[in-house]
Amino acid sequence: MAFTLDVTSMTEPTVPAGVRDAEWNALADRFRVAHARVVAVAATGVYGYRELEAQAAERTRVVNFAALSQGKYDDVVVLGIGGSSLGAVALRTALRPAAWNARTAEQRDGHPRLHVLDNVDPRTIAGVLSIVDLSRTIFVVISKSGGTIETLAQYLVVRDRLAKAGLDAARHLVFVTDPAKGALRAIARRDGIPAFEVPPNVGGRFSVLSPVGTLPAALCGIDVEALCAGALVVRDATMGAELAANAAGLFATLQWRAHQQAGQGLHVMMPYSDALRDLAPWFVQLWAESLGKCDASGAHVGPTPIASVGATDQHSQVQLFMEGPADKTVTFLRVDSAADDLPIPHLEAAEPALAFLGGHSLGELLDVECRATANALARAGRPSLSMTVGAADAWHVGGLMMWLMQATTLAGALYDVNPLDQPGVELGKRLANSELGHPDYAGVAAGAGHPVASPPARRLRIG
Ligand code: PA5
Repeated sequence: MAFTLDVTSMTEPTVPAGVRDAEWNALADRFRVAHARVVAVAATGVYGYRELEAQAAERTRVVNFAALSQGKYDDVVVLGIGGSSLGAVALRTALRPAAWNARTAEQRDGHPRLHVLDNVDPRTIAGVLSIVDLSRTIFVVISKSGGTIETLAQYLVVRDRLAKAGLDAARHLVFVTDPAKGALRAIARRDGIPAFEVPPNVGGRFSVLSPVGTLPAALCGIDVEALCAGALVVRDATMGAELAANAAGLFATLQWRAHQQAGQGLHVMMPYSDALRDLAPWFVQLWAESLGKCDASGAHVGPTPIASVGATDQHSQVQLFMEGPADKTVTFLRVDSAADDLPIPHLEAAEPALAFLGGHSLGELLDVECRATANALARAGRPSLSMTVGAADAWHVGGLMMWLMQATTLAGALYDVNPLDQPGVELGKRLANSELGHPDYAGVAAGAGHPVASPPARRLRIG
């Protein structure tokens, strides 16, 4: 089995506010309209994330670069943020053995560790820089625009460290950026730093299958051709206009319908697999930044995604999901055949609280807990979906990511928003640039957005 979407618990009679039998035709019609819109927009060439054939040559460059780098580096450090970092984290967690960075070189088959610096907190940056041997480290600087201040600030810190250590920047830096535009492209040309291309029609949060995700992954030994092969199969299976036959469309339509018609606009993504746990924050960015915006009529729309992890969050958020406001859907992400299951030994036979566990396995326990949580939610009238992948390998993970990107694109059409832009984050960026003295943003602070008065400060201090 490759991929399965189970929506039983989004329907009546399983859950009371679920889809009624009589509603399916209307939903199928609504989806057809959204699908037609996506087809029309696709003709303008903006959905580059799914044109993986067109990226084959660049992918080959990535694979060759990774092969040539083999043995030269102990650490890969990604500098990037948002769509330029979350994919690499998700791929490392899913497709490298657990505790990858804590393993010895031998346990990593000689492949390097992978650190992803997705913030500018000096504690983290200094901490990571203090543990890597710069002479055995490659820094992958990822910014599609080449103008993101967090990433550029990280780059400046790293470049200075390399210079002070007397190391050749062209051997310790590699860029992933726009083919022609931006500061990183200009620096790469000037200094002979190797650089890979983010196609102009591939946006940040849709870029995991471009060098943004594939370069860090390939450097760590992940099979990026298999990743994209799985993605292509899912892409082709999620292009159709028939709701009942399009798993991306069904996911998008049922989430949209839950939000618009049942007031369930909080969408929880809950992997019951540690391999897939970092898919949840990756999805949160994809769903939030793509769908939360003003629609064509100016109305503020969009679901609020929430990342959760099973079984861990059964002891945290699930109380809220069960008995809090009935405003959520929960998507369970499952792996059908977990590798490396661990049997639970028959011990403590005299202790009933432990004895019954003997003879089961940890994988079985996780699976039972997932089904029990879904069952409990349904009994409480709370809707859920279940997405299952056949294995946590590169082929399936690529397919799963494509599935969710396709669903996001279709959801954009249902919500009547452009899933590819992010106008809402621009003002904050401009204000920060202005305050730091960027010449292109002088005066932004004075003029932009809703005027903010200078109120008397209201602060409470302890100690
Ligand atoms: O999804 C997006 O477009 C954003 O989250 C970007 O990835 C993020 O802002 C980083 O942008 P850039 O890659 O241009 O540095």
